Amino acid sequence: MGRYRELLRKVTIFSDLDEAGLDDLEGLFVSKTYGKDALIVGHDEEGDSLFIIVEGRAKAMLLGESGREMILYVFRPGDFFGEMSLLDNEPRSATVQASEETTVLALRRDAFHRHIEKYPKTALSILREMSARLRRADEIIGSLALLDVYGRVARLLRELADRDGEEVDEGMMIAERPTQQDIAAMIGTSRETVSRALSDFAKRGFVEMSGKSILLRAHFLHGGQISR
Ligand code: CMP
Repeated sequence: MGRYRELLRKVTIFSDLDEAGLDDLEGLFVSKTYGKDALIVGHDEEGDSLFIIVEGRAKAMLLGESGREMILYVFRPGDFFGEMSLLDNEPRSATVQASEETTVLALRRDAFHRHIEKYPKTALSILREMSARLRRADEIIGSLALLDVYGRVARLLRELADRDGEEVDEGMMIAERPTQQDIAAMIGTSRETVSRALSDFAKRGFVEMSGKSILLRAHFLHGGQISR
């Protein structure tokens, strides 16, 4: 059994594969390490590999002409990206940049296509994951059009609690919240506005911040739409 077997088992798109399927995959990956802020995938470039994160963190984002960034998603160990260009042969839909030193496994287009032909279960799993990503993108589009900034911050905090939160007596604890700058880039606003919304939430007893962590109180998590 190779060194990446345990990781591959944790990757959602490979979770339905049996041992033979994992054997088939394991020899196909090449590992690469990127330094903090290195570009892994460039928006609009031609794409020939799919990536899986082994260690570290990388963000998919769109960059405005003024350098402003919109963060679409933050990938962590076990997550994959770069599948879109391999499926539709179009240029990369977004930039993916390492947020810290990040090691990935890269699978080239021809190997990916051969694997999918042999193991259609992987294709179904990719469709399932892409459907989940589309649902999330729909929610974000809806929130940009329908919620004010406070509502968008609240929606994002609830999403982070769903994904990363740990249940505690008072609600959900997120041990490492994103920076205010990153929250701003995830919901299309400025860092100052996020800072104002978070202090307002703290004053209203919705959240409690301490160092890098944030506690979301139960009435905030289960309450309805939040606005200014
Ligand atoms: P690709 O277009 O090949 O390169 C950029 C990658 O970013 C893309 O494949 C997806 O893997 C990922 N990506 C693009 N948009 C989103 C999104 N809205 N949510 C999550 N991942 C995305």
